[in-house]
Amino acid sequence: MVDAINFDARSRLFVLRTDRSFYAMRVLAHGELVHVGFGAVAAATMALDNLDQYEEPNYVWENQGRRWEYPTFGDVTTHDVALTTVFPQTATALRDDEAAHLPVRDLRLRYVSHEISTDDEPGLAAQHGRSPVLPRPVLCITLRDIGYAFIARLYYRVTPELDIFERWVELENTTDMPVTLEALAFATVHLPTDRYELRRSAGAWGREFVGVTQELHQGVTPLRQRGLNTGHNANPCFLIHPKGQIGPENGTAYFGMMAFSGNWCLRFEVLPTDAVRIHGGYEDSHFAMTLNPSQTHRTPAFIFGVGEDGTNGASRRLHTWMHRYVLPQSAHGPLRPVLYNGWESVYFDMSMEKQLQLARTAAAMGVELFCVDDGWFSGRRSERAALGDWTVDRSIFPQGLTPLITEVRRLGMRFGLWVEPEMVNPDSDLYRTHPDWVLHFPGRPRTQMRHQLILDFGRRDVVEAIYAMLDTLLAENDITFFKWDMNRYVTEAGSAVEEEIWYRHVQGVYGIMDRLLKKYPRLDIQSCSGGGGRVDAGILNRCVQVWTSDNTDAMDRVYIQDGFSLFYPPGCMESWVTHERNHQTGRAVDLEVRFDVAMRGVLGIGTNIDALPAEELENYRRKIAFYKRIRHIIQGGELHRLAEAQNGGASVWQSVSADRRESVYSVVVVQAMQGHHLPFYRLRNLIPDAIYRLTDEWDHELGNFSGGQLMALGMPGDQRHGHFTCSVRSRTVLLAAV
Ligand code: DGJ
Repeated sequence: MVDAINFDARSRLFVLRTDRSFYAMRVLAHGELVHVGFGAVAAATMALDNLDQYEEPNYVWENQGRRWEYPTFGDVTTHDVALTTVFPQTATALRDDEAAHLPVRDLRLRYVSHEISTDDEPGLAAQHGRSPVLPRPVLCITLRDIGYAFIARLYYRVTPELDIFERWVELENTTDMPVTLEALAFATVHLPTDRYELRRSAGAWGREFVGVTQELHQGVTPLRQRGLNTGHNANPCFLIHPKGQIGPENGTAYFGMMAFSGNWCLRFEVLPTDAVRIHGGYEDSHFAMTLNPSQTHRTPAFIFGVGEDGTNGASRRLHTWMHRYVLPQSAHGPLRPVLYNGWESVYFDMSMEKQLQLARTAAAMGVELFCVDDGWFSGRRSERAALGDWTVDRSIFPQGLTPLITEVRRLGMRFGLWVEPEMVNPDSDLYRTHPDWVLHFPGRPRTQMRHQLILDFGRRDVVEAIYAMLDTLLAENDITFFKWDMNRYVTEAGSAVEEEIWYRHVQGVYGIMDRLLKKYPRLDIQSCSGGGGRVDAGILNRCVQVWTSDNTDAMDRVYIQDGFSLFYPPGCMESWVTHERNHQTGRAVDLEVRFDVAMRGVLGIGTNIDALPAEELENYRRKIAFYKRIRHIIQGGELHRLAEAQNGGASVWQSVSADRRESVYSVVVVQAMQGHHLPFYRLRNLIPDAIYRLTDEWDHELGNFSGGQLMALGMPGDQRHGHFTCSVRSRTVLLAAV
């Protein structure tokens, strides 16, 4: 058994090993810490010799092209760096031969010591009382500036069974002066020299997670978010592969993401030598942070890894890692409930009678969690007013929420409520009382979006007031689910904590969530930000599920879900069946497709179910019952995307249970021209000599086939099994070994 973290004192080489990859770095003669290698090779038995031969050519200027493990402005000035510090050098410290150039932007970190521990945590991580499934080794390398008593600790946590590394940095100012940070990355990761393509999400509201693939050329390709949430347009995750050499199940895939829900940036840098590095951390163009003497800052995590099993291999590693180490454990068990949300049924036309009626209809069809969306609080008749006044509107609910919740509970469902805690409408009691509590610059315009402003979570009193309102709601009502929304981007980001707001806002949100989850262990939170604007490994450490997009049109949603699943697991991907004629796009999509798409994740119903005829309600009931039979495979199984919508034809997903005895096959046709024949999609990871019984939602037996046959020849071509005419566009089939 080889240690996951190894240090060879003679060569001063660190090697981190996972089951199928390694990551190595070395301390040079003067304490410089340089990257040596990162690759998808089981390094347990591999010798790593003569590593100097892999040093970058020292082109142009001393040190500029060196593979600094954590490049700082000082050692590197002509390329991108991870960290820029500003020291307010005092004139009294000058030697005779020095002029007073103020301040000093020069940091050169050198090795001091290292330590190996177990289960250390990055900044902003939350455990919620959960102990890790398996203890994980953590390497901490301490570096210090050549002159100033400024310390950087580089952390590496290794998850060997999933080939995943997590990095973060802790900075400590042990000088006697305040030090300003102008750029701070959680990590810089070097890739072996090659020609690469980058796959990333390039979306928008209503089109989240839809991806593009682009070649990386010499220079810097930055991805940035400046909205104060994680973002709709981009998401802090990436997949990189040698140009043209990737398939769903084969090819080298480098993957990564960041656990941070605020302004972030990822910079993909290709040097003139073709050396490739990725810097990931706080968005740096508006960033500044001051570390006073004795102060430390620990960054969130940069997560990354490499595998040889294509895009699906990367996804599966991240999905398992999320389930095993990141997502909170719900007090209500490992499976997410079928949810009803009335937003698209009533919008702001909220009434007690309607909610009761919806609840009864929802319970009868098998819904397990009933969530009341926007419009329940004092004065909220439209999006123009009341955000910030988190008390129940007595003109709608004269006796508060209790009678509704009691009925929902009597019907056998849990109760959930929508909140948007970071926001305030100018037309609200909160704003009238505290107009100074919003992000703004004195004397300057306060730009509204959706008629709302953002509270200054840099202020402790604001965070405490919002926490207290949510605490009261939970204390007085049997609420076990919050839909936590955030519906605008920041504009005038003037805060009591100045530029630190980029970090402090996220800290405020996480802090409130962490306190509520601790005090109310039966609470689950869904992350929503005008759809999928706040999805990342940081929020998913608090929220059991996310609202993937406001776009509930199944034919659009297929693309969104394909992209989402590249990085995030279906077990946290909330997806609703809504009206036949979709409210966002106006397109009519039949019920089969709407369910087949929504059943790929955490199923929700968002239709005005009271308006449906009895036979349609029966269809909902039957499909929800079918979903409950297959959801343990969908939410907890391993995913194989057999075909992606953006490649044309169909999107085909296969989920496989851990014991491989059950599987769900889900196909949605996105282009169906007459005469167009889809392939018999070959299934993956079944037991070759087991016989699988194929059934549908009626429990009709569709046939019995060996796992080997299904993997070699694919799903049979009968229409019932997933071969389509123009009028049949989707199918979900359960496979169970007999
Ligand atoms: C945006 C969300 O994404 C919707 O689902 C809904 O909750 C509205 N906000 C309510 O204002």
